Amino acid sequence: MLFDFAAIPPRERYKLLVSTVTPRPIAWIVSQSASGELNAAPFSFFNAFSGDPPVVGIGIGSHEPGRPKDTRLNIRETGEFVVNLVPEEAAEAMNITAIEFEPSVNELEEAQLQTISSVYVKPPRIGISPVSMECALMQIVEFGGENALVLGRVLAMHVREDAVIDPAKHEIDTPKLKLIGRMHGRGWYTRTSDLFQMDRIPRANWKLHDAKVSSKP
Ligand SMILES: Cc1cc2nc3c(=O)[nH]c(=O)nc-3n(C[C@H](O)[C@H](O)[C@H](O)COP(=O)(O)O)c2cc1C
Repeated sequence: MLFDFAAIPPRERYKLLVSTVTPRPIAWIVSQSASGELNAAPFSFFNAFSGDPPVVGIGIGSHEPGRPKDTRLNIRETGEFVVNLVPEEAAEAMNITAIEFEPSVNELEEAQLQTISSVYVKPPRIGISPVSMECALMQIVEFGGENALVLGRVLAMHVREDAVIDPAKHEIDTPKLKLIGRMHGRGWYTRTSDLFQMDRIPRANWKLHDAKVSSKP
């Protein structure tokens, strides 16, 4: 079935995108206003886009027309934020921080989350997160409507010690992180435990592979 995005309203386009582009990782962002008010909220329009420079991007909307979400305002004001990744055990706390509180409410306190000071930026990281990235704002790409893409340079990453296999080689035990992702609709999530492995095919092996396929009965 063809859905022509020019002919359907924004809300329906959003539905089509978020129920098909899945699973999406979740950036649980801690930011701080210029006057020091702390803020936490989850965002699943999120991914890593480059290793060199190390860049992450987050699509952040508005609470209502003309009022960007607090996280975007804070990042614009201070140029700093921390992206925490979400393990399954923190799913409910993460959901509490998504409540659309007024800017003065500290969601970290509402969800009873402990924080740990960051090294390079003012906002702290979330203690229960097995991975936290201290980020500096690179650019905000305004889309001309109520949404914008925030691009951040990763200054440093904290990884829970038991999930580091070899610190010298920067090897991480990814399944041990037990991260969750966001799926379709409002309330569906996924675990990252249903895995399969597939090696890349070196170009030199490709003809060999072709011959094998064609020699099948
Ligand atoms: C799992 C999850 C993912 C979300 N992803 C996004 C997102 O990508 N972009 C967005 O604007 N809001 C997203 N939201 C909604 C925000 O978290 C919510 O509006 C929050 O109140 C914003 O907080 P703030 O105003 O303190 O920044 C998401 C909510 C949940 C529960």
